[in-house]
Amino acid sequence: MSPVRQIPHGTLDYAEVAALGVRPDDLLVFSSNINPYGPPPAVVETLRGALTPAIIARYPDRLSLELRARLAAYHQIPETALLVGNGTADLLWLIGLLHLQRRHIAVLAPTFGEYENVAALMAAPVTRVDYPGWQRQAEGSFLSGENVVGRCAQALAAAQPEVVFVCNPNNPTGQVLRPDELEQLYAAAPAALWIMDEAYLEFTAQPVSSIPWIGRGNWLVLRSMTKDFALGGLRLGYVAGAPVLIGPLQQAQSPWNTNSLAQLAGIACMDQRNWRETTLAQLRADCAELRGELQAAGFAPLPTTVNYFLMPVADPARLRAALLQRRMVIRDCTSFGLPGYVRIAAQRPDANRRLVAALTEYRSEER
Ligand SMILES: Cc1ncc(COP(=O)(O)O)c(C=O)c1O
Repeated sequence: MSPVRQIPHGTLDYAEVAALGVRPDDLLVFSSNINPYGPPPAVVETLRGALTPAIIARYPDRLSLELRARLAAYHQIPETALLVGNGTADLLWLIGLLHLQRRHIAVLAPTFGEYENVAALMAAPVTRVDYPGWQRQAEGSFLSGENVVGRCAQALAAAQPEVVFVCNPNNPTGQVLRPDELEQLYAAAPAALWIMDEAYLEFTAQPVSSIPWIGRGNWLVLRSMTKDFALGGLRLGYVAGAPVLIGPLQQAQSPWNTNSLAQLAGIACMDQRNWRETTLAQLRADCAELRGELQAAGFAPLPTTVNYFLMPVADPARLRAALLQRRMVIRDCTSFGLPGYVRIAAQRPDANRRLVAALTEYRSEER
């Protein structure tokens, strides 16, 4: 039997949508953490203008050279320190192929499920180390607790992993580790290969990337363009690391992995960084307003640094099903090891108000 499970994600389950007899556009999706103001209109225009038979027929640039050059200039690193891919999930599997086979992996958990999934495929044993702020219970689920960075570092030092995965900011908890905290963790396992997933970094108020640390030679940083620029359907991400790590990844990558339209969108996005800043600032305000309205309605959303947050509820599966009937999708966090929580990603204010109304109605029906 395959060790890999098809793990749940917050993105739309198209079979579920079909079973409901609706179209994806009929749903309000609070389950997937994408910038609801995107994609940038100028990027859509660029794609419209570029959509010729030739661009569809011609194979894409295997190395995404133009996009890579733009990204390298932006991050102030050499082009050979970057590899573009078909979303960060795809790059994660590529990293697995080269670096995870039968190696001892540490994952700061609860977190995004694909790290453990890739490890399982590569027959790599996994040690779960409690993410600061969380504590694993005997039966495997997590409770928020007093766990501090120092204790997390101790657990890492004791585990002596060969590879460490850190999602920063973390999905689904929405918390972020500061550079000094990361430094403390790194000191506990300096010989390991560190893989930092910064898919949601730009959603924080003051993003501090660890890309400048790639010079350490054992530090890879995954960045996604599907969340902040809302390119989920096109798929686009990249990994930054020392050229000695990136070179072999590039050679092992499946050919023509990143399609021409995604590359073009990525290049156009590099001119839309002001758009990103403005819309994500608006989204942080929307998210704060939504959390405030939920609190006023008697719910207890957890603090967050990004556009999504956890909220404790009595029966997440039942609540999710009830909201689905109202054409709204939220994320049941049971598969994260958080059986008492849902994750909600803020949308535009109108949609957020409809969610608060639906939750309030659900709760009054429950009583
Ligand atoms: C933490 C994290 N990393 C990576 C991904 C995948 O991103 P991409 O769309 O770039 O493959 C997700 C998607 O949900 C995620 O939550």
